[in-house]
Amino acid sequence: MIPLPYTAGILLAATGLPVAAQEERAEVPDSRKIVIAHRGASGYLPEHTLPAYAVAHGMGADYIEPDLVMTRDGRFICLHDIHLEATTNVEDVFPARAREDGRWYAADFTVDEIGRLEATERLNGRFPKGVGRFRVPTFAEMIELVQGMNRSSGRNVGIYPELKAPAWHRAEGLPMEEALLRVLDRYGYRQPGAPVFVQSFEPESLKRLRALGSKLPQVLLMAEVEQYQRFLSPEGIAGIADFADGIGPAKTMIERCRDLVVWARKAGLLVHPYTFRADQTPSRYENLTDEIRSHLFGFGVNGVFTDHPDVARDAIDWY
Ligand code: G3P
Ligand code: CA
Repeated sequence: MIPLPYTAGILLAATGLPVAAQEERAEVPDSRKIVIAHRGASGYLPEHTLPAYAVAHGMGADYIEPDLVMTRDGRFICLHDIHLEATTNVEDVFPARAREDGRWYAADFTVDEIGRLEATERLNGRFPKGVGRFRVPTFAEMIELVQGMNRSSGRNVGIYPELKAPAWHRAEGLPMEEALLRVLDRYGYRQPGAPVFVQSFEPESLKRLRALGSKLPQVLLMAEVEQYQRFLSPEGIAGIADFADGIGPAKTMIERCRDLVVWARKAGLLVHPYTFRADQTPSRYENLTDEIRSHLFGFGVNGVFTDHPDVARDAIDWY
């Protein structure tokens, strides 16, 4: 299915089909149109660093996303991969600590050892590598930063943590779900209406969180790969509501199948697609603002993961 340009999306909205739902829905946690700062303001500063999270807060993000992996001593750190070499200088600092497959795994290092690494931006053409000094933060540090800025700004920005590879971590002797709930509880994220969404690509992990008693908002991530095909029907989407409050599909999944949003809404699920990037805007859109508005107000999604939260903030506030 060909994606609608922004203007066509507006016309579609006027028909009453997949229209933006601004109304409050009591059964879902946060049904506003939301800006989710993807890996912080990662379009401007190295992903998953405290400066990137701070800038995202200042740019008006509603939620800030840390991806989470675990260290050998059972601490959460903010990192996209289970491996360290793509975004740190681990190969220089710990040259002999790779596994037989030639990769450096965060799960083989203590949190103190991780603290000795320098973090760099992953994508070329963004914040230059080797400039400045950035660290890999712990999840606790991330939360304390957000809560501190909430206090100093009078805002209530939420957190949107993603458990990365929870089945793999469990097999390594590092169960994530129990640990996540302990950390969230310690920082006051306990009730269904708490400013948090817990996300994962693994449905079993979200189900485990529910089995552990969590009532916190949850989002199932979906990618354009075989394992998520079973969800791409009205019945498949409805089944997700048994263990989640929303879906986080790749944005192209919505462009190919606009009914996804309709099915999700019928099932009472929010839709938060990823990832909207100013430097990777598809040529079928005029610019990032056009792309974001097409999704939010044309296709009718409820929020967007974006590396450029300032653009998304303006796209919503000036619409
Ligand atoms: O969590 C939403 C999005 O970030 C999923 O993709 O690979 O960037 O974590 P990834
Ligand atoms: Ca993520």
